[in-house]
Amino acid sequence: MIDSKKYPIPRVRHHVSSLLYLPAHQHKHLPAWYPPDIDRIDWSTVFANGAPPTVLDIGCGRGGLLLAYAMAHPEVNIFGIEVRDQLVDWINGVIRGEQLGNAHARWYSVVNGIDFIATESIDRVFYLFPDPWPKNKHHKRRAFTADFLNMLHRVMRPDAVLYLATDRPDVDEYQGQVIAAHGGFVLSDPLDDEAWGLPGTTDQQRFCDRKNIPYVRRTARRFNVDTTPARDADAFSLS
Ligand SMILES: C[S@@+](CC[C@H](N)C(=O)[O-])C[C@H]1O[C@@H](n2cnc3c(N)ncnc32)[C@H](O)[C@@H]1O
Repeated sequence: MIDSKKYPIPRVRHHVSSLLYLPAHQHKHLPAWYPPDIDRIDWSTVFANGAPPTVLDIGCGRGGLLLAYAMAHPEVNIFGIEVRDQLVDWINGVIRGEQLGNAHARWYSVVNGIDFIATESIDRVFYLFPDPWPKNKHHKRRAFTADFLNMLHRVMRPDAVLYLATDRPDVDEYQGQVIAAHGGFVLSDPLDDEAWGLPGTTDQQRFCDRKNIPYVRRTARRFNVDTTPARDADAFSLS
């Protein structure tokens, strides 16, 4: 557990401009508050062992799981992607303060792709409570699409695992449909704590536990097959 007296958590607005979730190419003029693009990353300047990451935490928020994972697995490099810069600054402050050489967070929007991650280099991807578009009528704005799965499929090693959690039954159903249509992953049934098996909980999971809000956790294991071209996730009927 991170000492919040030593590392006071910044006040962060829950609702940011929805334009933040649009890919850069869909903006006429990129506002100053839009996260910078990432072409490539020199991992030797990021992690103490100079190696690239093998675990991604997409939408890592306040980094509760990222930090717990890094502490539990000091030999594993974990890379967090988060669109809210204040949270990224806070996480990286904790990482520096606790001298965690195997963790790093970057201010970036995942909707712009992860070309800077090497093919078949990742063992685990966390995509936990991330989507700012819980309503079905907004499903076209969600990051979780066939293209998103293609992108994950490319960077994940055969048998690597995508971890999914959501407190929105319609998001759970939608993600299941996108995964089924993609064909490159095997989705699990809902998992309990033991089957989930990750060290610590995410901040959102703790919030749900406190408020008795039910949530679903699943894994999607990557198949070792060529899944391109993917079918169009927008073709699903989501009534
Ligand atoms: C509800 S929070 C969950 C955070 C964390 N995964 C947890 O479970 O505690 C969702 C996080 O995903 C981030 N997020 C949403 N869309 C994103 C995007 N396109 N790129 C990067 N981060 C994103 C949000 O800023 C937010 O911090």
